[in-house]
Amino acid sequence: MRDSRETLLTKAFVTGFPVKHSRSPLIHGHWLKQFGITGSYEAVEVAQADFPAFIAHLKDGSSGFAGGNVTIPHKETAFALADEPDELASELGAANTLYLRDGRLKATNTDGHGFLNNLDDRAPGWDTAKNTAVILGAGGASRAIIQALRDRGFGAVHVLNRTEARGQELADRFGPRVHAGPMNALAERLAGADLFVNTTSLGMDDSDAFDIDFTDMRSGALVTDIVYVPLITPILGQAKAQGMRVADGLGMLLHQAVPGFEKWFGKRPEVTPELRALIISDMEKH
Ligand code: ATR
Repeated sequence: MRDSRETLLTKAFVTGFPVKHSRSPLIHGHWLKQFGITGSYEAVEVAQADFPAFIAHLKDGSSGFAGGNVTIPHKETAFALADEPDELASELGAANTLYLRDGRLKATNTDGHGFLNNLDDRAPGWDTAKNTAVILGAGGASRAIIQALRDRGFGAVHVLNRTEARGQELADRFGPRVHAGPMNALAERLAGADLFVNTTSLGMDDSDAFDIDFTDMRSGALVTDIVYVPLITPILGQAKAQGMRVADGLGMLLHQAVPGFEKWFGKRPEVTPELRALIISDMEKH
């Protein structure tokens, strides 16, 4: 039997509101071209009120999409409306990847996969010692990273957030290895830590006064930021100046796209230096 994917145009989307700044069409477009697949990946802007109808058309097949990516503000609703969210999406209460199988809408969340694969790729050996990770911020992105680090086997994941109650909610959600604390516990938590992750916009605004001393972290520890515009954020710049090993966040965006492409188009793509350069050159244009 022939795979229908070989003969039909397979369509996928990224939806959000707004969505026009998404770089996902560039990433998937690159892979489609590379594999010579007859397919498309397009940005579809959908307002919150219209999102349930968008999902209904996806489920009944009338939209013609095989699935797609979901970004802010639809990740929680996408999870709620899916027929079969997997364990990762269910624990997060949010989905970023949807795909149809036998008429059922499946959902997963690939942000944690993107985060881990970026570090595996850019900082080999980063998880050789995994006693303690310190995460700044407790928003949507932070959740997927907490889950991923816990599942990678970190002994303790400390979530420090300006609004401590949000951090505590995440500690309650992700179990006994996840701990919440206030921002002023940062120096204490960083002492001997193996990994620091920034998930906030701290330092991006000139009015934010901040000064982090990373030098008490374990020797060889890694500092990373999920903000990737600019590639070297103020926090990464500070860490570099202190002689720390750093990894930028662009690869999280590239790697989170891999599982979706494979589910819709049937081929597992690779994150190559060429793809990274393509996105960096697009970032320089806008
Ligand atoms: P995302 O989904 O990208 O993680 P978010 O849900 O809006 O975005 O979360 C933003 C995170 O950055 C939050 O942890 C926020 O702290 P609060 O929970 O206290 O709002 C944090 N954040 C944003 N600006 C910050 C700043 N100037 N200083 C410290 N934390 C900041």
